[in-house]
Amino acid sequence: MQSLLIKNIARLVTMNSPKVITNAAVFCEAGKVKWLGAEKDLPQNLNATETVSAEGGVVMPGLIDCHTHLVHAGSRQHEFNQRSQGVDYLEIAKAGGGILSTVLSTRKATAEQLYQAANERLKNAMKLGTTTFEIKTGYGLELKTELKMVEVIGRLQKDFPGRVHGTFLGAHVVPREYKNNRKAYLRLLLEQMLPQVAETRVCSACDVFVEEGAFTFAEAKQICTFAKELGFEIRLHVDQFADGKGGALAAELGALDADHLDYVSAESIAAMAKANVVGVALPGESFFTGGKNYPPARKMIDAGVKVAIATDYNPGTNPNYNLWLAGTIAATQMQMSLDEVLQAITVNAAQALKINAGKIQVGETADLIILAAADEYYPLYNYGTSHVRQVILAGKCCK
Ligand code: NIG
Ligand code: FE
Repeated sequence: MQSLLIKNIARLVTMNSPKVITNAAVFCEAGKVKWLGAEKDLPQNLNATETVSAEGGVVMPGLIDCHTHLVHAGSRQHEFNQRSQGVDYLEIAKAGGGILSTVLSTRKATAEQLYQAANERLKNAMKLGTTTFEIKTGYGLELKTELKMVEVIGRLQKDFPGRVHGTFLGAHVVPREYKNNRKAYLRLLLEQMLPQVAETRVCSACDVFVEEGAFTFAEAKQICTFAKELGFEIRLHVDQFADGKGGALAAELGALDADHLDYVSAESIAAMAKANVVGVALPGESFFTGGKNYPPARKMIDAGVKVAIATDYNPGTNPNYNLWLAGTIAATQMQMSLDEVLQAITVNAAQALKINAGKIQVGETADLIILAAADEYYPLYNYGTSHVRQVILAGKCCK
């Protein structure tokens, strides 16, 4: 049986209790953590098929990116150029750019092309320390291409030795061909897309972009109510450009999380705290689109909302999958402490995905990272570069 012993760990950051064990070791067997503790207490009878040294570095849980759009074709680099000259994201979208331009490229691409491109991004992000990903559809917006995206996410789920969670985002925006007939697009979503996507079992959640220019509060309620009947969990893109009572809607629907939240109201924050909806902040997106407004993470945490941080990797509003970098932006722009940031990219992100992960615990899947750093805060400080020496997925060295 394959097993792995990691020794010479200056700080084992379990994110559990106790949170940190110094001068530690971890033993993994059959993909799970089997033993952890101070190295001096290592049991004599553990027989490892492979031993690695952390060389006096840190071992911590692999990071969890609970909001990404990793599957897409094409680039929107030219829009960045336009934005650098003062044109704003919503203007670009109104002129036919934005999400709809990625939809055109994604419709043209084959499943194989989409898979290759997404797999490359996944591997690069994994080398930066992310071991669990949520990935959304939403660049098809027609039955055939939404199912093609689902197929690609399903293939990534099978091939990637870490974890991939699929989310159906057919309600991203109304596609161009239904511009004057949104009711017909809603029918397509409810009568064909949702039931067929449910059958594939690739996507455990359904997401809706609730915003002017995307879907209304009432439409989101209708879509999510039906999605729940089909067994989907709910997550929502809300309150990104204005307060649309999206946080409150997430609470009312029993959503796992509400994401973006740049303009979330105090009432919505209170409702989210009460309903235990995770607030997912996407500081890389706020930064890349201009950085004028960030989600009120402090207010959310103080009101009792669990805050997670994700990258929102996508070709338009944040072409970046470095979760550490998102954490640094959260610390500098959202007044989160470094401990809150670490919590946000591990255990709180796991809650948003409703999985047991983000902690190093006996019996749990051994998705771990070894950092070439004196402590777990250093990569947030010396930002924008990688401090990951080794990535361990299900007990096996992968990087
Ligand atoms: O999360 N808010 C809506 N959707 C994406 C943007 C996707 C795109 O611009 O392609 C987001 O920011
Ligand atoms: Fe998003």
